[in-house]
Amino acid sequence: MSVISYKKFCVKPGGKLTGRLRVPGDKSISHRSIMLGALADGVTRIRGFLEGEDSLNTLRAFQAMGVQIEGPVEGEVIIHGVGIDGLKEPLEVLYVGNSGTSMRLLSGILAAQSFSSILTGDESLTVRPMKRVIAPLKQMGANIQGSQDDKPPLSIQPVPRLKGMTYEMPVASAQVKSCLLLAGLFAEGETVIIEPQSGLTRDHTERMLTGFGYEVASQGARISLQGRRRLTATTVDVPADLSSAAFFLVGASIAPGSDIVLEHVGVNPTRTGVLDILKLMGADITLFNQRKAGGEPVVDIRVRHANLQGITVPERLVPLAIDEFPAIFVAAACASGKFVLTGAEELRVKETDRIAAMAEGLKTLGVDAKPTSDGMKIRGGKIGSGTVASHGDHRIAMAFTMASLRASGPIKVNDCSNVATSFPNFVELAHTAGLNINAS
Ligand code: S3P
Repeated sequence: MSVISYKKFCVKPGGKLTGRLRVPGDKSISHRSIMLGALADGVTRIRGFLEGEDSLNTLRAFQAMGVQIEGPVEGEVIIHGVGIDGLKEPLEVLYVGNSGTSMRLLSGILAAQSFSSILTGDESLTVRPMKRVIAPLKQMGANIQGSQDDKPPLSIQPVPRLKGMTYEMPVASAQVKSCLLLAGLFAEGETVIIEPQSGLTRDHTERMLTGFGYEVASQGARISLQGRRRLTATTVDVPADLSSAAFFLVGASIAPGSDIVLEHVGVNPTRTGVLDILKLMGADITLFNQRKAGGEPVVDIRVRHANLQGITVPERLVPLAIDEFPAIFVAAACASGKFVLTGAEELRVKETDRIAAMAEGLKTLGVDAKPTSDGMKIRGGKIGSGTVASHGDHRIAMAFTMASLRASGPIKVNDCSNVATSFPNFVELAHTAGLNINAS
């Protein structure tokens, strides 16, 4: 169950992307399929599961809590659900590596258990903010502590029973919403979450709960559920991850002569900001073969090269494209005119500070990029060559790899091992599609 990872990429300039590709399974949906499958009554079968380090860490955490899980074998996982009260005390600290989603969502489940637990992660995760889940979980009656400044590791002690509550989220975060909905499954009474004005966040948890037969009411920004009901095992078909497809959407858009089809991509409307933003920039993107898989809308996407223009990104699209900005910044660097992003301060607390890391790498490549407190200004032009640091962030590494398609010389990207957290076969797929990439 371990994933091959490469430390460095060296990508020769030029080339174009062609062919049909299926990128790996959606990371958000893969995490949730393990969590709900484990808590359900009966046997859940998952197809298309992301065999990346992040979702594998979620899987390992549930195995450590006594859940029998078979696979993954070519994306298939079988979970023998233990029911809502069936998790067992883990014998060890639960280590979730680089995965903020694992830590934040698991904390909601663990806060409601009759045993104590400790959640920890890697160097990047242990400096990420956890107060956003600690504070509301405490309001529900949880006994959860972070270390200094509410950062991980998180230590969770049992309490008699959580209480449902109404919570207005101060930040647009699907991880916070999902953490509290998961805690709400175990709580007395109703849990109501109100999403902030700044925008709706991804709703995979709500959709998947419904798929497991658990009633969730969603009315615009208000989501609610009653605690102490049961989940029924089901089959989950995980679509390809739009966040991974984003690198190829951008690569094909910027490289003359490109024409690719990305297959079976999830296009949940709470995730499609990247498509809207690229289309506003003039990208040639067509969605076809619309269908549903596991309660989620899925399509095939054709992308051809286009001349992109800089835009001012509408702020309502920011939460809908929050993971795709590293790739979008590369598109902006190849566009004519000015690109302006505001309202995206959340980028500063992702796997790394993505505003600072992207601005630094783009400047190394000779791009006119100015970081701001909550976004970026980029004046498109030529991309040079050089060595950029990914700061251990998978999406920064993959974004700069795509920049090579328009670079004047080779681009070397350091610290790439975390690409394996979300896109374990990135190097192979990128090579097949037409990138001249060497990984070591
Ligand atoms: C995720 C939600 C997003 C996203 C992350 C995955 C999820 O984070 O950036 O990669 O699966 O719920 P926030 O909810 O904190 O914005």
